[in-house]
Amino acid sequence: MSAQLPTGTQADELASAARVDPGGARQTVAIRATGAYTPEKVLTNNELTHLVDTSDEWIVSRTGIRERRIAAPDETAADMAVQAGARAIEKAGLSPADIDLVIVATITPDMPFPSTACLVQTRLGMRNICAFDVEAACSGFIYITEIATAMLQSGRFRHALIIGTEKLSSILDWNDRSTCVLFGDGAGAAVLSRGEQHGNGSLSVLDTRLGADGAASNILYMPGGGSRIPASAESLAAGHHFLKMNGREVFKIAIRIMEQATRDILARNDVPLDRVACIIPHQANSRIIEMLSERMQVPMDRFHINLDRLGNTSAASVPLALDEVLAQGKIASGEYAVLVAFGAGLTWGATLLRG
Ligand SMILES: CC(C)(COP(=O)(O)OP(=O)(O)OC[C@H]1O[C@@H](n2cnc3c(N)ncnc32)[C@H](O)[C@@H]1OP(=O)(O)O)[C@@H](O)C(=O)NCCC(=O)NCCS
Repeated sequence: MSAQLPTGTQADELASAARVDPGGARQTVAIRATGAYTPEKVLTNNELTHLVDTSDEWIVSRTGIRERRIAAPDETAADMAVQAGARAIEKAGLSPADIDLVIVATITPDMPFPSTACLVQTRLGMRNICAFDVEAACSGFIYITEIATAMLQSGRFRHALIIGTEKLSSILDWNDRSTCVLFGDGAGAAVLSRGEQHGNGSLSVLDTRLGADGAASNILYMPGGGSRIPASAESLAAGHHFLKMNGREVFKIAIRIMEQATRDILARNDVPLDRVACIIPHQANSRIIEMLSERMQVPMDRFHINLDRLGNTSAASVPLALDEVLAQGKIASGEYAVLVAFGAGLTWGATLLRG
């Protein structure tokens, strides 16, 4: 007998039953601790003026970025992820042997395969546990938060290590002033565990909303290195292995998507905007965050910003910011916080947390 697909109305009912569950299973996963790693080398705007025709004044006024961190030539996305992951596990009061799931979000994996998660797993001394990568660009950390939460809620896993890590300096065209000034390197990690609270500073993961629109895949992408344009002398000469971006288009869409994603996650959990202590947005451009603040009527001091020091670190951006927020005690017990991001794909997502 063939399976019966739900009708449109039934499907809607099922979808809404699955998501409107603020008091149920969704509260049974918590971010127990976070960890961060940024490379030692600081690259200032003034140093960039030696590479491309730009100025500190232009970069600061258009983006808010003053400096970014750049990984050493032999330092990889996995190397940075190992540092951030080890810190998160230690702060969680666990040992690597307690972790039974590793998920890494990155668009700059050490290599196309094996996954960076497998490299991190073995380097942290973990054996025989599930490990895989997710590619959702700057929304990557929100995507892996949702995936890890669902896998923990399934009852099959107990403690997940999730990491956003990027060596964006390895895919930038250092002759292209419209992109090379925007990005930086780093890694941010979190340990998620089943059970509501795990001591001071832990955050309940209440809900996540994800989205994507592949129709806009051509405004932020890297054409080379995949099956469409494998590496060749011609592809390298044509610069296909560099990040390409239509900055103006990304800018416009980013504001609309981040506002919508934040409003949606709050609406479906009946949390008013004024009860949100801290919004932790993807760190792409301070003007995007300022416009978000204006449109949502949320004061700028409730948005956490570190892009002035780190630039845009893609999948590492949200967890690096979250690590700072927790270190600064910005989310008191019982207070709400929102993670929100957008990125290539296009992808987007928002997560509602409670201290
Ligand atoms: C990239 C971005 C900063 C450009 O700012 P902008 O105000 O839109 O600037 P424009 O692209 O309109 O360019 C304006 C001028 O500045 C120039 N310019 C671009 N980069 C420059 C730089 N680093 N230094 C000096 N001038 C620069 C352009 O060539 C252009 O010159 P022209 O008018 O003579 O053609 C902005 O569009 C942005 O942040 N977009 C979103 C990017 C993003 O978030 N990406 C990551 C997504 S996850």
